[in-house]
Amino acid sequence: MAEWEIAAAHRAIATVAAGDARLLQAGDCAESLAESGPAATAAKVAVLADLGDLVTRRTGDAVVLFGRLAGQYAKPRSQPTETVHGVELPVFRGHLVNAPEPDPHARAADPRRLIEAYRASARVLAGLRTHRQRGDAGPWASHEALVLDYESPQVRRGEWSGERYLASTHLPWIGERTRQLDHAHVRLLASVTNPVACKVGPGATPDDVVALCAALDPGRTPGRLTLIARMGAERVGALAPIARAVRRAGHPVVWLCDPMHGNTVRTRSGKKTRQLATMIREASRFRATVEGLGLHPGGLHLEVATTEVTECVGGPVPDEDAVGGRYESLCDPRLNPAQARELIRCVF
Ligand code: PEP
Ligand code: CO
Repeated sequence: MAEWEIAAAHRAIATVAAGDARLLQAGDCAESLAESGPAATAAKVAVLADLGDLVTRRTGDAVVLFGRLAGQYAKPRSQPTETVHGVELPVFRGHLVNAPEPDPHARAADPRRLIEAYRASARVLAGLRTHRQRGDAGPWASHEALVLDYESPQVRRGEWSGERYLASTHLPWIGERTRQLDHAHVRLLASVTNPVACKVGPGATPDDVVALCAALDPGRTPGRLTLIARMGAERVGALAPIARAVRRAGHPVVWLCDPMHGNTVRTRSGKKTRQLATMIREASRFRATVEGLGLHPGGLHLEVATTEVTECVGGPVPDEDAVGGRYESLCDPRLNPAQARELIRCVF
């Protein structure tokens, strides 16, 4: 994608950093290569726009939308293998790497997927541009910059600025498992001019996060760095000392709350799920903490489906026995649109 487009996304995030707007980042946990056509993209844009309108109605602020799309094809995993029906298999790592079907052939990493993903993301981006050109509040693209064989070849030198930028997305983010200061993911995103984001989990110390800010936002530039807190409802108390230290260090970061990834549990039958009530608790405490420090709660980072899936408990999914009727996620359990609306209404 073009450098000017990334610069425009950066300016949009700067309005959030200034406290004049909110940011909603949402989409699938793992995007499917099979969902890159115009209809699938239009459905995702419609859900994002609808949730964004709700954020605006609740807060009175303009909203900047980012999809987890056009490149959200790779997943960090806690375990390298899993056992399915007594057979040990490599885990599914996202369509960028392998296929989800539980057989050894599907789970083998296939480098041709890098090219397929590049083409699919180009189709999704084309879909996003049609909405933007129509003047709709079309979302910008974002994904976790995880697989460096995919990201590094897409670093370009800007024609007008001469600076390095990452052409794979507007807003790349660094995941909780790859945010080590001296590792390749932080180095890569420190070296490009895109706006960037980084997840911050409960194991992070204030010093860790201030050091990340120094690496990723040395110029203290509004809009450059978004920090996505994903503490878990039980550990959200870890946020205040971190946010205070970042404020003291003078970084004008956007603070987002990801109430999904710190709150994943298993049902009795072993399915991954999340409780809407727990997510609401974390996001509400996030807002209170950030506002209590005199800072701006920039917004939310959510995993949301476009259809009435039954992956998380809450609202139309009464209990964990109702989880799994429609469980279509390739990875983590997503909110359905009604659950996402309920969360936004409770937090803002
Ligand atoms: C994700 O966003 O899907 C993810 C894996 O998050 P985290 O890096 O915060 O665990
Ligand atoms: Co996820």
